[in-house]
Amino acid sequence: MSRLIVNGQPVQYRLDPRTPLLFALREASNLTGAKYGCGTGHCGACTVHVDGAAVRSCQVAIADCEGSQVTTIEGLAENRAHPVQQAFLAANLVQCGFCIPGMVMAAAALVDRAHSPTDAEVDAALTNICRCGIYPRLREAIRTALQGRGGQVQPEPTPAPEPARPTADAQPGDEIVTPAE
Ligand code: FES
Ligand code: FES
Repeated sequence: MSRLIVNGQPVQYRLDPRTPLLFALREASNLTGAKYGCGTGHCGACTVHVDGAAVRSCQVAIADCEGSQVTTIEGLAENRAHPVQQAFLAANLVQCGFCIPGMVMAAAALVDRAHSPTDAEVDAALTNICRCGIYPRLREAIRTALQGRGGQVQPEPTPAPEPARPTADAQPGDEIVTPAE
């Protein structure tokens, strides 16, 4: 038997301890927001929070979640009030709907933990696969959600321009002109 706290409620699963968390949530708890996409940890459609971290629930056994706090999309916030959900709605982000619960949970874990992530950190946290190509608007929605939390995405530092190199026929004392940006 595996004991977890799911969306604030104590739950005991009388299932094989190797059962993937995704199957326990969907089949035993009837929490069907997390989706089965690839089953191999790649697509992110099954993302939930385990102790606040975004986890691909097809890849973790319920035995490994013993005593953990699990949050699914159903328990993230009342009335879709989480800043990520509000930002997704405002940006009209949802296309297919299948991948969106996982996207929301991955983004929410980032927004809840990181006050001012860099673009690279946002990209590293949002590796969910979307066949519709919502990625630019997804990043914008995360910026909006972070602003709602008083944070922001930090732009990556611009690399310094390459110093001008003298040409083969330059003579000592010649002026070297740096090309305009
Ligand atoms: Fe879990 Fe795709 S179903 S990562
Ligand atoms: Fe679901 Fe793109 S919105 S795959």
